[in-house]
Amino acid sequence: MNRKLSIFSLLMAFVLILSACASGGSSSGDSGEKPAKKTLRIVNDAQYAPFEYMDKGKMVGFDVDIMKALAKEAGYKYKLVNVGWDPLFVELKNKTADMSISAITINADRKQSYDFSNAYFLSTNKILIPKDSDIKSGADLKGKTIAVQTATTGQEAVEKIVGKNNPKVKKYKNINLAIMELNNGGADAVVADNTVIEQYAKNNADKNLKVVEDADAFEPEFYGMMYPKDSKLKPEFDKALNALFDNGTYAKIYKKWFKVEPDIDQLKAQQ
Ligand code: ARG
Repeated sequence: MNRKLSIFSLLMAFVLILSACASGGSSSGDSGEKPAKKTLRIVNDAQYAPFEYMDKGKMVGFDVDIMKALAKEAGYKYKLVNVGWDPLFVELKNKTADMSISAITINADRKQSYDFSNAYFLSTNKILIPKDSDIKSGADLKGKTIAVQTATTGQEAVEKIVGKNNPKVKKYKNINLAIMELNNGGADAVVADNTVIEQYAKNNADKNLKVVEDADAFEPEFYGMMYPKDSKLKPEFDKALNALFDNGTYAKIYKKWFKVEPDIDQLKAQQ
């Protein structure tokens, strides 16, 4: 074959491949026959150890490991982006993100605007206080100044006790700021997910904090991945989650972070 001609056909093939890539890459909205799996944009608030947090510039945590295993199982590439708590809800509502994994509690209120995966973690709110505090229960929070992360189930649980719009509830955009307020003496207590405050109290013994549990005041909660409404990803990732439950991967990640065996039957019972 003429050399010029073969270079020309090579070039043409290259152009064809390029244009195929370009249309495939931006086809998020169309329902093409067999769209190549796109890279998912997954958002979180990575200031929530041990679920998602920055460690020496790297995002780490239980959720981060679970997400990695889930995406591998479901066959997706993804980018996990730390956008913050309030913005992650906005992104899912606007569908600029495909999903979120961020220790998010599945509840009826959120279900009106978002879809959730099956449960992947059991949690409950507890109270973080100085060791010498006289707070012993949820009811004791009445009259106290309480710091929470804005728009969390912690805020909701506290307001159920002390009343909505109570000025003594101080709201912060992430949990670390709320805990800082407690340490600075600007609040009497922080209410947040047990695992987060228990770990904080343990890892920061110099702060002299303890955690109080009140199962009557604070209900059990289950975390789920959150999606925009009617996301096609939910069934795929629910399947992947069950695979991780059944093949030992979930238990392995759970033990890495929490040092104990997970109760997988309890999580599956939520399905
Ligand atoms: N589980 C609580 C909720 O859903 C708090 C979650 C906060 N998560 C975070 N990554 N900051 O409201």
